[in-house]
Amino acid sequence: MTDLAFPEFRPGEVWLVGAGPGDPRLLTLMALHALRSGDVIVHDELIDKRVLSLAAPGTAIQGAGKRGGTPSPHQSDINEHLIALAREGRKVVRLKGGDPFVFGRGGEEAQALAHAGIRFRVVPGITSGLAAAALAGIPATTRETNHAVILATGHRALDETSVRDWEAMARTGQPIILYMAMSNLARIAEVFLGAGLAADTPVAIIASATYAEERLLETELGRAAQDARDNGIGAPAIVAVGSVVGVRRHLLHALLQGEA
Ligand SMILES: C[S@@+](CC[C@H](N)C(=O)[O-])C[C@H]1O[C@@H](n2cnc3c(N)ncnc32)[C@H](O)[C@@H]1O
Repeated sequence: MTDLAFPEFRPGEVWLVGAGPGDPRLLTLMALHALRSGDVIVHDELIDKRVLSLAAPGTAIQGAGKRGGTPSPHQSDINEHLIALAREGRKVVRLKGGDPFVFGRGGEEAQALAHAGIRFRVVPGITSGLAAAALAGIPATTRETNHAVILATGHRALDETSVRDWEAMARTGQPIILYMAMSNLARIAEVFLGAGLAADTPVAIIASATYAEERLLETELGRAAQDARDNGIGAPAIVAVGSVVGVRRHLLHALLQGEA
């Protein structure tokens, strides 16, 4: 590990860094290098304090979260802020939960930076959908169960067009990993059922994966939204739907989880 060479973080650069699902031990070495060599960190809401504490002493730490339900800066303001910091010659870490290019608006930020002529680097992170499932003993794929896996965001209310997309996803029969789906879960489940998925299709809901307050609920498609409500499980959460969820029960007796 000591032989690894890391790129120099130059003034005026922006690094779009994935922080993984939360637990700092799941950061990449590149992300750690970025945290230790940037001089300002602009971070999303869903960033574990333990990750921020890895920044070098004296690093400016600024929150720029976008989170449903709470007042948050416009994306264009965040883009402008990143550009302004870079033009001041700062070494800017744009720290985002999971992977910066998976439902995190990192793609939009990269486009804004490129358009402004700001040099940037992308440091991928472990996306929460795959991490939360894996840590719970749900493989994204096994040869017996599936040959594809769908990552989807459920944060938009379903309209006529999106209903057709959701139905099409369900008809593939492949597992679907939902981000930001808790407030629309009842409707999404209804559409999946209407598209032919069985009411007993296995579902796992994993909230706050890798945080002390992590919750996991195993349920079935037909009652997932009700079960989540009854158990007080809400965002941030990942909802895994499909046959791979059923693999978990064959692994649990030997699976090491948490601190053990
Ligand atoms: C704006 S999206 C960002 C996704 C992120 N870029 C990624 O790759 O994981 C935020 C959503 O990710 C999911 N999420 C992020 N961290 C999570 C965690 N620790 N446990 C469960 N879900 C999480 C939730 O669905 C949350 O609403």
